[in-house]
Amino acid sequence: MKYLNLLVLTVLIACSTNRQPPKINLIPLPNKIETESGSLKLKNKITLYANNEVLTPVVSQFKSEVKSLVSVEIVNSEKATLFLKLSDKKNNNDSYFLKSTKKGIQISAGSPKGIYYGLQTVRQLFLFAEKEDGKFVLPLLTITDSPRFSWRGLMLDESRHFSGVEKVKQLLDLMALHKLNIFHWHLTDAPGWRIEIKSYPKLTTVGGIGNHTNPDAQAQFYTQTEIEEIIKYAADRFIEVIPEIDMPGHASAANRAYPEFSGGGSKSHPNFTFNPGNEKTYTYLTAILREVASLFPSKYIHLGGDEVHFGNAAWNTDKYVLSLMKREKLKTLKEVESYFVNRMADSIKTLNRTVIGWDEIVDHKLSNKNSVVMWWRHDKPEKLEAALSNNYNVILCPRIPLYFDFVQNASHKCGRKWGGKFVTLELTYSFPPDSLPGFKQNINLIKGLQADVCTEQIQNNKRLDFMTWPRLSAMSEAGWTNNENKNIDDFKRRLKPMLNYLSSKNVYFYNPFYPNQTPEPEGI
Ligand code: ACM
Repeated sequence: MKYLNLLVLTVLIACSTNRQPPKINLIPLPNKIETESGSLKLKNKITLYANNEVLTPVVSQFKSEVKSLVSVEIVNSEKATLFLKLSDKKNNNDSYFLKSTKKGIQISAGSPKGIYYGLQTVRQLFLFAEKEDGKFVLPLLTITDSPRFSWRGLMLDESRHFSGVEKVKQLLDLMALHKLNIFHWHLTDAPGWRIEIKSYPKLTTVGGIGNHTNPDAQAQFYTQTEIEEIIKYAADRFIEVIPEIDMPGHASAANRAYPEFSGGGSKSHPNFTFNPGNEKTYTYLTAILREVASLFPSKYIHLGGDEVHFGNAAWNTDKYVLSLMKREKLKTLKEVESYFVNRMADSIKTLNRTVIGWDEIVDHKLSNKNSVVMWWRHDKPEKLEAALSNNYNVILCPRIPLYFDFVQNASHKCGRKWGGKFVTLELTYSFPPDSLPGFKQNINLIKGLQADVCTEQIQNNKRLDFMTWPRLSAMSEAGWTNNENKNIDDFKRRLKPMLNYLSSKNVYFYNPFYPNQTPEPEGI
């Protein structure tokens, strides 16, 4: 009897280990996964074959991304463990097909980008795999995947507080792992100007001094060489970098450097604007944008355009603005603002770039062919509706739930709360609701989603980590995975291994499962 029990127990254990396929821990969750029983067991040395030379940069990028996990030997045989197949039917989209069998993994796609996303899936399969006898145990599956939205972005504000090259590179690497593809770089604002402009060097030597907490902090900014390095680092990961040069408001740092182009400000926002009445302002800003365009290959330049009314009181009495109003028959400061934004949008057009602006630009009647709107004021849904009804392409980044300077837990002291509202992981994950005004009817105009990290209350990189993660993981799934495939409980299960990975990279994330493990870093 005793032996029979033991035998039954042994058989049960054997069956249960056989029957349990390896768990799928991917974030964002692919849109179609079919699984089979069994597993693919791989040592920490694999072979790779790519069927097209065009894939060489993607392969070397992947090799370096996984080198601490597996070494990859390039071979010239379709029998390789990892077979990358650029299909004859070329496209320029993010979709890929992946099949793992007991022998190996095949990825096919119509573009190197699609192959790269398939490889990010493989990278996650390795990262989150169980190990048995020193081998990775990978699930057998067939994935047919493409994203819900083409724009899956992150905005980082480096004017209020500066993060620096190494932190930006880490963010880009983690974005790539999450199949995020847009890095919107907020490089100028009131506290500091962070991009070297060779024709106006004081923008950084003077305008780069200070930050939101310390107006005397030594100048911090990116040289053009560093900017090129970041753009290349991002491009290697299929991330497009979009510069934002905020105007006509949020210009105080630039105005410290070149006060001759200042349009003044208001009591609470001194020297906040560029001067829209001074013809020389347009020459100056166009020269800046020309340098920006020569650095950034993106077809977009973000012009800002937000919150001008905070600091344009001085326009009421400025002699240049008054003469502009007379000459152009402009009756209100809003019309002056529109005049300025239209002139600068024309400059952007001559640089062969497309304008992006915050949702204030909807009021300025720019061409909808050459401008894209970022809807950020969650409390003004009518701005989203207006953008859509005027046929603008729109990126959704409403403060609630996509601004990560809002706290993510009621107990957190530092960060924004509006009327007691803040941004939980769950809220970010469940965005966008179908009930968003105009959303379902105009889905073709919605380019996608973006998380925005404004850094007034993010004074250091520890706080940057804490506010960004794991909400950015949730945003990546909101941007990639179709509604019918999303499930917050399953996401939370898959998030746990991702958090372990973030830990291994020394990322100080907020831990929603064990909040006491990562207390809120001090801030003001
Ligand atoms: C913004 O956050 N002021 C666009």
